[in-house]
Parts: sequence; structure tokens; C-alpha cells
Amino acid sequence: MIETLRSVFRFRRLELDPVARRLARAASVADLRAIAKRRLPRGVFDYIDGGAEDERTMAANAAAFAAVTFRPRVLREVGKVDTSTTLLGRPLPLPLVLAPTGFTRIADPDGELAVARAAARAGLPYTLSTLSTRSIEEVAAAGVGPKWFQVYVWRDRGLVKEMIRRAASAGYEALVLTVDTAVLGRRERDVRRGFSLPPKIGLGTLVDGALHPGWTWRFLRSDPIRFANVGDAAGVGDGSTAVTLSEYVNTQFDPGLSWRDVEWMRSVWSGPLVIKGVQTGDDARLAADVGVEAVALSNHGGRQLDSAPAPLDLVAPAADAVGDRLEIICDGGVRRGSDIVKAVALGARACMAGRAYLYGLGAAGERGVDHVLGLLGADVRRTMALVGASSVAELGRGLVEPRR
Ligand SMILES: Cc1cc2nc3c(=O)[nH]c(=O)nc-3n(C[C@H](O)[C@H](O)[C@H](O)COP(=O)(O)O)c2cc1C
Repeated sequence: MIETLRSVFRFRRLELDPVARRLARAASVADLRAIAKRRLPRGVFDYIDGGAEDERTMAANAAAFAAVTFRPRVLREVGKVDTSTTLLGRPLPLPLVLAPTGFTRIADPDGELAVARAAARAGLPYTLSTLSTRSIEEVAAAGVGPKWFQVYVWRDRGLVKEMIRRAASAGYEALVLTVDTAVLGRRERDVRRGFSLPPKIGLGTLVDGALHPGWTWRFLRSDPIRFANVGDAAGVGDGSTAVTLSEYVNTQFDPGLSWRDVEWMRSVWSGPLVIKGVQTGDDARLAADVGVEAVALSNHGGRQLDSAPAPLDLVAPAADAVGDRLEIICDGGVRRGSDIVKAVALGARACMAGRAYLYGLGAAGERGVDHVLGLLGADVRRTMALVGASSVAELGRGLVEPRR
């Protein structure tokens, strides 16, 4: 009996490092989300996790991936799988870009610097949001990885032009113009909680903070969180005064943005331009007509227009509409490497992911982001082997059964 017991008993080595212990149990992005949910104050978690109105589009983004199945091919010599690709002319180890997320330091005080360092280690582009809580220059100094800069268009074009100039001189490689935010979507979780940036301290926040002492301690010990790219001197608010995001966006951003502004942007930025927030094949074609290098099919992770279409469902129609005139990035709902493989098989050059890395950041800081990127990379490699593709070039529509 002792022999039998000995053959089946296995004790895990006691892990003394609490972060390593936490990450060892996180087998998926969904696990990291669950850990982040426990560790972050509820208002903060909901700001990251939530979507607009009934969150139908947010759910649809994930459902679209679930609805596509593979047509796996066997006996295809997948002893060596190469997950690398090129995007905007740059070689990448994986068809993945880290999406821009505003106010990232709310998840962890190391915020954008932590994410940029993790992305650099993985060799993946990190997109810094205009509404970031570390500046263009601070993030550029954080690491040597490829960096993109995302712009919203303020009513004050001088401010936008100046930010673009700073991004160019700090070595950002691509400019991402987000076009799905004419006004801010109604994120009802934030409305219910009265969530503002930076968080206002009321009784509810105090209780929430006390229940999450780890987050609160780190938050109180770090320097104040504010929009690092826009100075108060410009009269646009740097986030040091608590406002709701919708107040900020609706007073500062220009809803009059049009295709003419894309042409203007071309005149002030000489590198590759990506339009993020395209939601039809028709607009993808217009983007190709104005000569941008890529579009990100995106509904802002379901945070803007509810009942907008899922980006994955737009990939094939957009690819048919634009041919090889521009590159397509599929953004929204990516939680597994198999999602990335599906999008690429349908015609995307790469995917973007936002919440996936924010869950990692909220669960375990910078090492949590490393963990997420490691999981996604390993997933892509394994999925490619299982569908019978040894290179990204072999991922084609023949390998997927689109949604019925
Ligand atoms: C907390 C949060 C903040 C975001 N902030 C921005 C932003 O400042 N600019 C932007 O273009 N998109 C922003 N997005 C949208 C992301 O870039 C991306 O489109 C979205 O997260 C994709 O969906 P996913 O989270 O399911 O991957 C944000 C998303 C989240 C979750």
C-alpha cells in the first residue's frame, strides 16, 4: 500500500514568492481575470472589465471567436512551428499588438512602464494611449521594444500636433488614430459606481479600498495618477481634478472629426498610420483610398457603441474589400492564442488585445503581463501545431469553419 501511495503522491515544491505562487495557478487569461477581480477595488475592476450599455457587443466580441471552429489538417509535419510574421514592415515573433488603454496605472502603479517593459521582452509592439498616465517620453525611456502611439483628436489641433511631434521624436514607430469615440459610450457600471478619474474618495471608495488593502497601499505610496501627456497649462485638464471620463471626452474631443482629418494627420506624421475603430468593409475601403497602412477593426472592446458588430466577423469582408492595399488588425475579445490564429486565418495580419494584459497587470503587476504574453504565445504555437500549420503564411480560410 505504501508503494502504491508513493507512486501517486506528489507534493508541489513550496513556492515562497507569493507572486510566483499566484501565477503558477493562473492557467489562462480567464484565471488572471478572476485574480484581478479579487485584488482590485470593485470600481477599478469594473472600469477595466466593463462595456457600454447592455454589454451586448462586449459579449459578441468573445462569442464570435467561440462560434468559429477549426478544420484541422493532420500529418502536416508540424515538428517546427514558426509563429513569426511581419506587420507594418516590421518582423514580429507573434501576430499580436498590445492595444492602447487609458489610465493604466489604475490597475497597478507601474502601469504603462510595466506593460511597455513586458511587451519589449516579448518583442511585441506596445501602443501607448493619449490618455496614458505615464508620458510619451517616460514610456520611450522604459525599454527598447517597438512602440506605437494612439491619438484621440482634441478640439485643440495644436495639442494633437504637438503630441504627434513628441511621439515622432521619441521614436514611436506607428500612429494609431482612434475613430470610434466621437462621444464616450455609456459605460453603465461606471455610472452606477460614480467612477471618476482619478477616483474620488467617498464612503464607498473608502470601504472598497479597505477591502483591497494591497491595491490601496500601492496606490497611496505611488505618485498621483494623472493624464501624463496633456498639461493643465493647455487648459484641457490633466486628470488631477476628478472628472468622469465622459465629461472629459465629451468636452475635449472633437466629434467633428472626418476623413479630411486623416489627410491632415498624414501631413503631420510621416510613419505608418493605423485607423482604429473601423467597423464596416466600406470604411476599410475608404481607409485604403486615403492611403493608410492599416486598419484596426474594433469596437473599443464593446465600450462604445453597443450592438456594434464583432471585429472577428468583419475580418473576411474587410479583407475582401481592401485586398492587399492595407493590413488588417482584429481588435476585441482576444483571450486565447487560438483567437489570434482564427483571426489571422480569416485574413487579419495581427490581433490587438487590451483587457487580456490589464487582467495580468491587475492580478500580478508586470510579471502578470509577462505571464499573459507567455500564455498567448504558447497558445498560438500549440494551436498552429494542432491545426496543421507550421508557419503563419499557412494560416488561411481553409483552416477555419466560419460562423453559421
Ligand atoms: C480600460 C480600458 C481603457 C481603454 N482605453 C483606450 C484608449 O485610451 N484609447 C483607445 O484607442 N482604446 C482604448 N481602449 C480600447 C482598447 O484599445 C481595445 O480596443 C480593447 O481593449 C479591445 O478589446 P479587449 O479588451 O477585449 O481586448 C481601452 C480599453 C480598456 C479595457
